[in-house]
Amino acid sequence: MRGICRIARPAARPISSTYRQGADPLITSKTLAFVLPGLAAACLATALIGATAAEAAGDAAAGRKKAAQSCAACHGIDGLAKLPNAANLAGESVYYLDRQLKAFRSGDRKDENMSVVAKALSDADIADLVAWYSSIEVTVTLPKK
Ligand code: HEC
Repeated sequence: MRGICRIARPAARPISSTYRQGADPLITSKTLAFVLPGLAAACLATALIGATAAEAAGDAAAGRKKAAQSCAACHGIDGLAKLPNAANLAGESVYYLDRQLKAFRSGDRKDENMSVVAKALSDADIADLVAWYSSIEVTVTLPKK
């Protein structure tokens, strides 16, 4: 479904404009009017279900162990970065962490460290790591002025 969603968006306009010019008699405007909103709704549903599924599936205790092995040197086991160029992950949302790790893994987001680290992660690893880092509670103190 994810692949279809990625293809469906850019394809939507060219196909319908091709039809309007009469180039493709197989695709009728009725079919498009029916298929495209359905596809868009399905993609949205997948995105929403995907985000909650990641939340439900992750095991924070397993994530803590994986983080200790693979992430803590740079991001800390507590999610407070050990290096100035690495981000704080503590308390970050499930949605955001999941999205960034998958972007590093797919190559949509690139970083010399993270691209290598993320390639080795399975969906289950990501869910566990995300469960761990997102479950850390953060309190902030604003500067006086
Ligand atoms: C060698 C150091 C290093 C290791 C190990 C490492 N990271 Fe990173 N991570 C970074 C750096 C540097 C960045 C910032 C990348 C950038 O500038 O785009 C980053 C960025 C991230 C981000 C994006 C944060 C944001 O705010 O956008 C996430 C999520 C993340 N790392 C998770 C992990 C997880 C989970 C692991 C363990 C599986 C891990 N990292 C291991 C160095 C590391």
